[in-house]
Amino acid sequence: MIPENIINEIKEKADIVSVVSSYVPSLKKKGKNHLGLCPFHSEKTASFTVSQEKGLFHCFGCGEGGNLFSFIMKMEKVDFAEAVKIIGEKIGITVGAQDFAPSQNNKFYNLMEIACKFYESHLDEVNEYIDKRKIKNPKEFRLGYAPDGWDNLLNYLINKGAIAEDIERCGLILPRQSGSGFYDRFRNRLIFPIADQRGRIVGFGGRAIGGEDPKYLNSPDSVIFNKGENLYNLNAAKDFIKHQKFAVLVEGYMDVVGCFEAGLKNVLAPLGTSLTTKQAQLLSRFTDVAIIAFDSDSAGQLASERTQEILKEAGFDVRIASFPEAKDPDEFIKKFGSEKFFDSIKKSSPATEFKIRRIINRFNIKEAEGKSKAAHEIINILSLEKDKILKSEYVKLAAKLLNIGVEILIDEIQNQTTYKNKGYNLKRTTSKPNSKVKEAEKTLIRLILEWEDALPKIKDEFTLDNFTEYKDIFGLLWMKSASEISSLQEENKDSKILREIILSEEPIENKEEILTDCINAIKSFNIKSKMSELRNAMLLSEKEGKTEPLKSMNEEYLKLNEILRTLVR
Ligand code: GTP
Ligand code: MN
Repeated sequence: MIPENIINEIKEKADIVSVVSSYVPSLKKKGKNHLGLCPFHSEKTASFTVSQEKGLFHCFGCGEGGNLFSFIMKMEKVDFAEAVKIIGEKIGITVGAQDFAPSQNNKFYNLMEIACKFYESHLDEVNEYIDKRKIKNPKEFRLGYAPDGWDNLLNYLINKGAIAEDIERCGLILPRQSGSGFYDRFRNRLIFPIADQRGRIVGFGGRAIGGEDPKYLNSPDSVIFNKGENLYNLNAAKDFIKHQKFAVLVEGYMDVVGCFEAGLKNVLAPLGTSLTTKQAQLLSRFTDVAIIAFDSDSAGQLASERTQEILKEAGFDVRIASFPEAKDPDEFIKKFGSEKFFDSIKKSSPATEFKIRRIINRFNIKEAEGKSKAAHEIINILSLEKDKILKSEYVKLAAKLLNIGVEILIDEIQNQTTYKNKGYNLKRTTSKPNSKVKEAEKTLIRLILEWEDALPKIKDEFTLDNFTEYKDIFGLLWMKSASEISSLQEENKDSKILREIILSEEPIENKEEILTDCINAIKSFNIKSKMSELRNAMLLSEKEGKTEPLKSMNEEYLKLNEILRTLVR
C-alpha cells in the first residue's frame, strides 16, 4: 500500500494539464478548460476536455473521464498503485518499491523476461541465418533463437522455479494433446521479442528458419499481451517519432529491423494483423503524421488501403511511400541501399494523391471509356474529403492528370455529395420524449454546483422522489458538499454526467430565472404524470362500474390542471 500522505502530495503537486499534454499533443487552452483530440477514441474534432482547476478530464465524445490517476490507469493500463508511481516519477516524487503490493501481472512480465534471455542466449546457433538476412546488430532488438526440441524452454523455466500454469498463461507452452504435460510453442525459430510501450517483454514473434509453415508464429493474446493494442518497436521508436514528428509504418518485423538499421528509427509495425483503431490511437500519442511503407504486392496494397482509412479516422495525415522493384522495404534496402530508401520516404505522397495516381495508372485514360471510369472512381474518393482546401487542390490535380476541365469534376462531386447528404438526413431520428425534464434536472445540478443558494431553494420545492432522470445524483447532492462531489473518485453511470456538468464551458447567467424555469418544468412534468395516472384510474373505475371514487378523482384532476396552468402560463 502507498501511504496516504504520498498520494496526497502527488495530488497536490501534479498538474493534470501538463501530464495529459504529454499524451495528447493536441491539447490547447480554450476558455477556462483545455481541449484536444481524445486519446481513448478516434475523433477529428476535439471533444476531450481537461479542467486544470478541477483536476478532471472528460471526453464529450465517448464519455471517458476522471481525474489524473484514472487518466494514467486508462492510458498505461496499470492499476492505481502503478499510476501513482508513474505520476510520481513525472513530477519527481519517489514512490518506494516497498510501498507496493506486488502487482498481479509482475510474475508474467518476469517470466517473459526470463524467456527472452533464454532465447537470446541461443542466438549464436543461428549466426548463419542472421548473416544471410544481413542483420547487423541483432542484440539491439534482443533477437533470439528458440532451439529445436519439444521442451527446452519449458524445462529451463521450471528449473528457474516457474509453474507450468503460469508459463501456459503467457502463451509460451501448449498442453500436449495426448496425455498430460506441455510442450514449447516456439521451436527452431528466430525470435523477435515484442515489448510494450514501457519496454516490458509481452510477447514473441517467431520466424521459421527453414521454410516451415507458418512462416511466422506469434504469441497468443494473454493477460499482459494484446496484439491489437501494441505495436512492434514502439518503445524504441517513440522518442524518434516525437522528435521527427512522423512515424513510418511497415508490415513486417524484418522491415522494422531493416529500416532501423538503415538509420530510419521512427519505424514500427502492427503485430501480424492489420492495424487496429486502438493501435492508431496509441500511435497518435506521439505524432499525427504517418507514412505507410507496406509490401508492394497486392496483399500489401490492400492492407495499405485499410490502414489508411483507420489512420485517417484517428486524425492522421497519411502519406504513402512505394518501393518499386522490391517486395518490401527490407528487400529494397538490401537491394538498393539506404540512401535510395530515404529518397523513397522523402518522396512519399499524401494518401489521396497516391490513390488518384494509382487509379489513373489502372485505366487507359487515352480512351474516353477509361477516362470516364477513372474520373468516377476519383470522384468517389474526393466526395468523401471533408477539408475544402484539400478537396479543391486534389480536384485540380485530378483534372490535370485526366486532362479534363476542373468544372466537370466539381460538378460531379457536387452531385455525389448532395445525394449522400440527403440519404443521411432521412435516417435522423426525432428527439426523445422527456428530454425537457432531463435538461431541467441537469441544469439544476449545475446550479447547485455553481451557486450555494440553489440547493436550499430546490429542497423547499422538491423531495428526491420528484426527480426522474438523475435521482441518484440529487441524492448525493442532498448529502454532500459541491466540492466533495467534484472530487468524486469511483466511476459509475453518474460520474460521467457529473463531469459533463462540472466541465461545461459557460457559467449560468441569470440564475434566479433559470432556477424557476427548471423547477416549473419538473413540477409540470410531475403533475402531468400524476394526471395521466389519474386518468387511467378513472377509466378503470368507469369500466368496473365503481362510480364512488370517480368524483374525488375528477376533483383532484381538475385541481392539478389548475396548478399546471399557473406553471405553464
Ligand atoms: P521476411 O519474409 O522474413 O523478410 O519477413 P517479413 O517481416 O517481411 O514478413 P512478411 O512480409 O511475409 O509478413 C509481414 C508480417 O506479417 C510478418 O512480420 C508477420 O508479423 C506477419 N506474418 C507473415 N506471415 C505470417 C504467418 O504465417 N502467420 C502470422 N500469424 N503472421 C504472419
Ligand atoms: Mn515482407
